[in-house]
Amino acid sequence: MSQAKENAALAALDFVEDGMTLGLGSGSTAEIFIEKLGERVAGGLKVQGVPTSDATAACAKENGVPLVDIDRVSRIHLTIDGADEVDPLFSLIKGGGACLLREKIVAHASDRMIVIVDDRKLVETLGKFPLPVEVDPFGVALTADQIYQALRASGCPNGQTVLRQNEDGTGPLVTDGGHFIVDCKCEEIPNPGETAHLLEKIPGVMEHGLFIDLSSVIIVGEDDHARVMELSRE
Ligand code: A5P
Repeated sequence: MSQAKENAALAALDFVEDGMTLGLGSGSTAEIFIEKLGERVAGGLKVQGVPTSDATAACAKENGVPLVDIDRVSRIHLTIDGADEVDPLFSLIKGGGACLLREKIVAHASDRMIVIVDDRKLVETLGKFPLPVEVDPFGVALTADQIYQALRASGCPNGQTVLRQNEDGTGPLVTDGGHFIVDCKCEEIPNPGETAHLLEKIPGVMEHGLFIDLSSVIIVGEDDHARVMELSRE
């Protein structure tokens, strides 16, 4: 387990209060948070979690964190999730773990989103990490072409699209929601808002991995401590 990720996950626990409904993110950093949360639950903390993936649901069950169906909650107080890249305005690339649609649904419905990352995830400009876009399998080649056009039209120097394959190499990866993932080698995303806007106009796109204006707190784990960075969204 990386010490930097663990330090970020531990610092996030300070934001958790008794009685909260929590959005539980996906990925290795979120799973460390869930393990630590499980220890607090064993000590008497009362929370319930809304998982953003089947893997996260399994991790929560294994660690004794109670779960609730998203359709049974009226409010999610706080979501804690990882990210693949974070820029200075706290815009994110997410979806390296193929869970971006559910992650965005939960983050969007939350009063607050806190992102936990190690310091290697901080970038000046998004786009080195290939941007994941979740698409409907129907007409995927056509959709991928439209995604390429949208990326180039919004100023990305590249936009090459690759259909993500499953771990066995037997075909396309299928998300928890039954969709495919197109990874886009943008190199740089100079205008994340415009790119997001153009991607959202493509019918086959279920959701893209740009998370803009969703997080106001980033916790950056380093080897010996964690830094809490806050951005006012007033
Ligand atoms: C899951 O789909 C992603 O959005 C993850 O949050 C992201 O890939 C970060 O994962 P790690 O914490 O494993 O780096």
